[in-house]
Amino acid sequence: MPCILIVGASRGIGFELATQYRADGWEVIGTARDDAGLARLAGIGAQSLRLEATDPAAPAALAQRTAALALDIGFVNAGVYGPRTPGLEPPSDEDFAAVMRTNVMAPMRLAPALAPALARGKGKLAVTSSRMGSIAARTAVAGWLYRASKAALNSALKDMSLVLGPQGITCVSFHPGWVRTDMGGSGADIPVTESVAGMRRTLATLSAAQNGSFLNYDGSPIPW
Ligand SMILES: NC(=O)c1ccc[n+]([C@@H]2O[C@H](COP(=O)([O-])OP(=O)(O)OC[C@H]3O[C@@H](n4cnc5c(N)ncnc54)[C@H](OP(=O)(O)O)[C@@H]3O)[C@@H](O)[C@H]2O)c1
Repeated sequence: MPCILIVGASRGIGFELATQYRADGWEVIGTARDDAGLARLAGIGAQSLRLEATDPAAPAALAQRTAALALDIGFVNAGVYGPRTPGLEPPSDEDFAAVMRTNVMAPMRLAPALAPALARGKGKLAVTSSRMGSIAARTAVAGWLYRASKAALNSALKDMSLVLGPQGITCVSFHPGWVRTDMGGSGADIPVTESVAGMRRTLATLSAAQNGSFLNYDGSPIPW
C-alpha cells in the first residue's frame, strides 16, 4: 500500500490531500495540532500524529514516526498568511517571527527529517508554496511578508532538491492555485477538491527530471 505523510492535515488543502489519498487506498499519516484535527483525520481512516510544526521537538518526532517506513510522498503543507497588508507596511517582530517560523523554518527542519523514509521509498517531497512567492512572475505587493516567506521556502526547496535528488527523492514546490479554504477565502478561484486532484495527478506523473521544479497544481511550470 503506498504511503503519504502530510504535515498540516487538519483542514483545508492538507485535509483534502488526506481525504483523496485515503479514498484511493493509500496509507495516510496526517499531522494536526489539536484534538479536533486528530479526530477529523481518524474519521477518514488516516493515522495521525500531533505536531506543532515550529516545535523544536517536531523534527525528531517526525523522524521517529517514519523510522520504519518507506514513504512514497512527504508533503509539507502547513502554512500561515500573516498580516493582509496592501503595500510596504513594516512587519512587527511578532508577525515576522510567526510567518517565517511556520513557512520557512519548519519546512527546513521537517523535510530533512522525512528524508530517510523518502529515500527508502524513492519517494517524492512536496512543499506547499505559492505563486505569490515567485519573484519573476510578481506584479503586486499585497501580503509582502507572506510573499517573502514563500520565496524563501522556494530557495530551501531548491537546496533540498540538490541534496536529496541524488538520493532518489524528487522534490517539488507547488502553487496549489487560489483555493477556497480558510486561508484562500470564499472568493478564491477553485475548490479545494480541484486543487488537490490536480496536485495528485501532477505528483503521480512527476519524473526525476522534474526534481527541483516550481509547479502549478496542474503541472505547468511557474518561474522562480
Ligand atoms: N488557499 C490558498 O489559496 C493558497 C494559495 C497558495 C498557497 N497556499 C498554501 O497552502 C497551504 C495550506 O493552506 P490552506 O489554504 O489549506 O490554509 P488553511 O485552511 O488556513 O490551513 C492551514 C493548515 O496549516 C496548519 N498549520 C498552520 N500553522 C501550523 C503550525 N505552526 N504547526 C502545524 N500546523 C500548522 C493548520 O493547522 P491548524 O488547523 O492547527 O491551524 C492547517 O492544517 C499553506 O502553506 C498555504 O500557504 C494556499
